[in-house]
Amino acid sequence: MTSSTGGNAGGGARVSVVIACACLIFFSVAADAQLKVGYYNATCPQAEDLITTIVHASIRMDRGNGPGLLRLFFHDCFVRGCDGSVLLDDPTGTPGNQTAEKTAPPNFPSLRGFGIIDRAKRVVERRCPGLVSCADIVAFAARDASSIMGGIHFAMPSGRLDGRVSNASEALANLPPASANLTQLVTLFASKNLTADHMVTLSGAHSIGRSHCSSFAARLYPQIDASLNATLAKALRAGKCPAATGGRDRVVQLDYKTPLMLDNQYYKNIATGDVLFTSDAVLATRSDTAALVAQYAANRKVWSQKFADAMVQMGYADVLNGPPGEIRKVCSRVN
Ligand code: HEM
Ligand SMILES: *[C@@H]1O[C@H](CO)[C@@H](O)[C@H](O)[C@H]1NC(C)=O
Ligand SMILES: *[C@@H]1O[C@H](CO)[C@@H](O)[C@H](O)[C@H]1NC(C)=O
Ligand SMILES: *[C@@H]1O[C@H](CO)[C@@H](O)[C@H](O)[C@H]1NC(C)=O
Ligand SMILES: *[C@@H]1O[C@H](CO)[C@@H](O)[C@H](O)[C@H]1NC(C)=O
Ligand SMILES: *[C@@H]1O[C@H](CO)[C@@H](O)[C@H](O)[C@H]1NC(C)=O
Ligand SMILES: *[C@@H]1O[C@H](CO)[C@@H](O)[C@H](O)[C@H]1NC(C)=O
Repeated sequence: MTSSTGGNAGGGARVSVVIACACLIFFSVAADAQLKVGYYNATCPQAEDLITTIVHASIRMDRGNGPGLLRLFFHDCFVRGCDGSVLLDDPTGTPGNQTAEKTAPPNFPSLRGFGIIDRAKRVVERRCPGLVSCADIVAFAARDASSIMGGIHFAMPSGRLDGRVSNASEALANLPPASANLTQLVTLFASKNLTADHMVTLSGAHSIGRSHCSSFAARLYPQIDASLNATLAKALRAGKCPAATGGRDRVVQLDYKTPLMLDNQYYKNIATGDVLFTSDAVLATRSDTAALVAQYAANRKVWSQKFADAMVQMGYADVLNGPPGEIRKVCSRVN
């Protein structure tokens, strides 16, 4: 489309230059709706490397930061799109005001990685003030976590703006609970333009990280859920997740077989009932999703490639690229 205008530029030089410029401006604004790989090439060429360095250091210090950052991206993108809204402290700044996404049960107290994003933002801000959004930092950090924890390397398109609203009820409404059935999961992901295939693929993130006992206690008490592996269930009841309420909020590895590897072990675990959430177990209950589970269990390479693609796809959810979007100065506060 741009080239057809440029093609006429032969004769009346000034007029066509003006037209060409107008078109360039028009198209560069329109093209912002598509994120771009290397969006900061010209404006802040060091941005992605600076972020990667900080993410590496943070995961070297604590491997749990890898899963933390992966989940942070998911929880950002599913609520008002990938706009950094999950990072905002309560808008009023009033202590005890429980209104921001951060404070909603799916996020508090389990979501982690905020400090790493804040640190990356400070470093990037020092180098190129006011240019790199917090939403993009979250996306880059999740990409880096995938690379470090699973050897899954991919380019993450960027150019997102940060939102100015964060609402706890929206987090509750848009983030799936561990008890979700397959219909609920498929519907929720579809509302973010993600297919059932994407949903099954992205659930493989549960091959790293941890859960609080309270997130799946309903599958242990009062009865052991039939879809949960009995050996694992008994071990959890006797160990990390005893009935006594005092001990119920300890944490358990999501994949006890390869807890630090972002790999396809999760799909093998579904087959033996070694997954903690109902939302994991139900993936084996419908023929199309079960076929994907079997395929991924058998082929790590296929899953890794599709995981990379699905992460990029998730990064397009409700992207904000115009007003009221902004580049925040500090990730926990609107400007
Ligand atoms: C399909 C629906 C999903 C449900 C119902 C779900 C639910 C949960 C729950 C309940 C926890 C444990 C929280 C706790 O008690 O500490 C968890 C952890 C986690 N989830 Fe999901 N999740 C889903 C999809 C995803 C997706 C799409 C990703 C990323 C691509 C993801 C990444 C993670 C990671 C990495 C952890 C471990 C976090 C940590 O160690 O800090 N989950 N998820
Ligand atoms: C930024 O540079 C990379 C590497 O040269 C390139 O692949 C990408 O397309 C560039 N992006 C933009 C928006 O210039
Ligand atoms: C929290 O802030 C909101 C929005 O300003 C306000 O309506 C609400 O009353 C506040 N709640 C508490 C508990 O302070
Ligand atoms: C938060 O979202 C809920 C559900 O969409 C809505 O009812 C409520 O008015 C919103 N709260 C604020 C302060 O905008
Ligand atoms: C899934 O959960 C929803 C909401 O709780 C419920 O209405 C629906 O009947 C359930 N579907 C299946 C197949 O269990
Ligand atoms: C449950 O786990 C045990 C021990 O890992 C395994 O031997 C058994 O086959 C599993 N049960 C099912 C139903 O797969
Ligand atoms: C899904 O795609 C439609 C059509 O392109 C778009 O209007 C909508 O905003 C997208 N939804 C999300 C959550 O990105």
